Amino acid sequence: MPVLPKIIEGKFIADTIKDEIAVEVRKIIASGKRPPHLVAVLVGMDPASESYVSGKEKACKQVGFISSVYRYPEGISQEKLLEVVNFLNNDEEVDGFIVQLPLPEGLREDVIIESIDYRKDVDGFHPANAGRMMKNLPCFLPATPMGILTLLERSNIDTEGKNCVVLGRSNIVGTPVSILMGRKAKPGNSTVTLCHSKTKNITEICSRADILIAAIGQPHFVKADMVKEGAVVIDVGIHRIPDNTSPKGYKIIGDVAFDEVMKKCSFISPVPGGVGLLTIVSLLQNTLKAYRKEIYP
Ligand code: GUN
Repeated sequence: MPVLPKIIEGKFIADTIKDEIAVEVRKIIASGKRPPHLVAVLVGMDPASESYVSGKEKACKQVGFISSVYRYPEGISQEKLLEVVNFLNNDEEVDGFIVQLPLPEGLREDVIIESIDYRKDVDGFHPANAGRMMKNLPCFLPATPMGILTLLERSNIDTEGKNCVVLGRSNIVGTPVSILMGRKAKPGNSTVTLCHSKTKNITEICSRADILIAAIGQPHFVKADMVKEGAVVIDVGIHRIPDNTSPKGYKIIGDVAFDEVMKKCSFISPVPGGVGLLTIVSLLQNTLKAYRKEIYP
């Protein structure tokens, strides 16, 4: 008998957490202090980055944070960008900031990220935060993996002792989420398999997963025959594909062939309306922690 899948309510979960943060911000303001301040540094005109940064600004407004965007042309030099980072590191009115990735060619992402003060690195990309995550020490967790944990936790999905398969080993999602799912923590304690472009028998490995996290960056890569009956499926993909029936001329789809996969799984996160909404919420949560100096007193 096919199971009836539950669609994970990304919007409801994101809105609930934003309301919780807004309550905290109101208390901060009532006590006479300034609200938390998040800055995004945006270089160039990449449409996906523009959309992420405008989503971030909107979310900041919703919860009462101060939000600023520092925009620079594609041709900015590495030295100038390092000066910007240094300025933000030292600005006491800024609690956390992100440098939106990818950066245009010619700029060294690793050098820029390492120049960010790890205590303001609300993206969790600095090696100090990544290393502390590995060791299960307090740190800023990267926004998308943290959003995936939040979705699992707030949907009451038990991860302990489960087979978790992660598709994709990017620095931003696949690699960190595979570490987080295997950590001695809740959510966590899963037995994790990380699949990538050199993995053999990917269909067979996926079909043994109790929890399947798709972050492979290929539209509709995960088909029904890759999914075990009753599995939990988390779709991290975001792809814009042409669609004549939509007024916008495109629609957003994920890494999972939703219609066929949903017939087999117990829980599925939709695209849009799933992980993406939680990514921004994680950034807000990290910024509040940075403001309160909760992680690095
Ligand atoms: N590009 C895609 N995702 C992210 C993210 O979470 N943070 C930053 N800074 N850049 C991104």
